[in-house]
Amino acid sequence: MNENCYAVKGNIIYSTTPDNLVLIENGYVVCENGISGGVFENLPEKYRSIQVKDYGDRLVIPGLVDLHMHAPQYGLRGFGMDLELLDWLNTYTFPEEARYAEEAYAKRAYGMFTEELKKSPTTRACIFATIHRDATKILMDLLEDTKLRTMVGKVNMDRNAPEYLCEATEESQEETLRWLKDMEGHYQYTSPILTPRFIPSCTDSLMVKLGEIQKEHHLPVQSHLSENEGEIAWVKELCPSAGFYGEAYEQAGLFGNGCKTVMAHCVSSAEEEIALIRKNGVYVAHCPQSNMNLSSGIAPVRKYLNEGLHVGLGSDLAGGSSMSMFRAMSDAIQVSKLYWRLVDQTASPLTLKEVFYLATRGGGEFFGKVGSFEAGFAFDALVIDDESIWHPQPLGLLERLERVIYLGDSSNIVEKMVEGETI
Ligand code: GUN
Ligand code: FE
Repeated sequence: MNENCYAVKGNIIYSTTPDNLVLIENGYVVCENGISGGVFENLPEKYRSIQVKDYGDRLVIPGLVDLHMHAPQYGLRGFGMDLELLDWLNTYTFPEEARYAEEAYAKRAYGMFTEELKKSPTTRACIFATIHRDATKILMDLLEDTKLRTMVGKVNMDRNAPEYLCEATEESQEETLRWLKDMEGHYQYTSPILTPRFIPSCTDSLMVKLGEIQKEHHLPVQSHLSENEGEIAWVKELCPSAGFYGEAYEQAGLFGNGCKTVMAHCVSSAEEEIALIRKNGVYVAHCPQSNMNLSSGIAPVRKYLNEGLHVGLGSDLAGGSSMSMFRAMSDAIQVSKLYWRLVDQTASPLTLKEVFYLATRGGGEFFGKVGSFEAGFAFDALVIDDESIWHPQPLGLLERLERVIYLGDSSNIVEKMVEGETI
């Protein structure tokens, strides 16, 4: 066996389905060339000669996946939460994103964002940049150095934004093509994702052009969908040919169905929209903290799981104030309890197992075979030391995991591996 093959020993925890969490005390997970060789209670004979990294009583879980965040909103964390979405964008977000026209600001702010993401429990993320091609490249360069696996999008917007943050339609198309061309061959870990901001920011003709770019370059797509009632009503006015919001993306060929797509929020999706999300295999990024901060509401995630939709979690930094995916998990549980209590008594709250699945395998699937330790999955792992989360008596593994999710932070992560490599 070569040195790209080793075993991690510790308390191994991973999901196989939303309802099935595997917990193995003092077990082994084998890494072969960045891919999991499987989980074992005792190391099989064929692996007897490989290096064993023994993490003792620590927890070993798959790396967490953030399906939706905005890097340029790092400087907005923790303030400006007195408004709903559309006013928040105009008052706080657009002026902040405009600063990324300046290279020095982009370097400084993206440097801070990247540093925090590197230390966080996140190993993979879908990330919005801004409309600025140069700043987007700065962000991608910084992310590449972290060896995290990220999809990054230069944002497209050609209407309903202040002049300082609005592109002409052709300019948006050309800058996107130039961005794609400039990065060719530059990155190993960082990849482009097409990013129309949302329908209110993109004219029909820009959407058609982005649809053409998607087909030619086979890019994945990220955007926002049915987050806020005012936004949904506005899309009806802006795009009368669409029967519902998601259809406005579908008309441009940017809504799943062979075009890998992740849509943030889906708080107030109509039944037809949910049906199309399912039919086209669109991923839903559930962003509970943002939905609270911007008073957007509560996404019916129980229904989405029952109906077999692809669902993962997003921090939506900085609609969400924290980029911690531990926090996203506990928030997802908490808002689902309010939904059950206050909105729909048939929608049982999300369980710990379910949110763990969403933050690992659910979102991980957007990146391929990611988010589990089953053989054949990418070896993305976190080693967690929960000793600092004091408790007066010994606890079981499930209890310890729950406390890490509710009380843990980056300081509890002692090692972070992506495709077998420590970062
Ligand atoms: N919709 C369009 N842009 C944004 C954004 O930056 N944040 C959130 N939460 N929703 C959006
Ligand atoms: Fe967002």
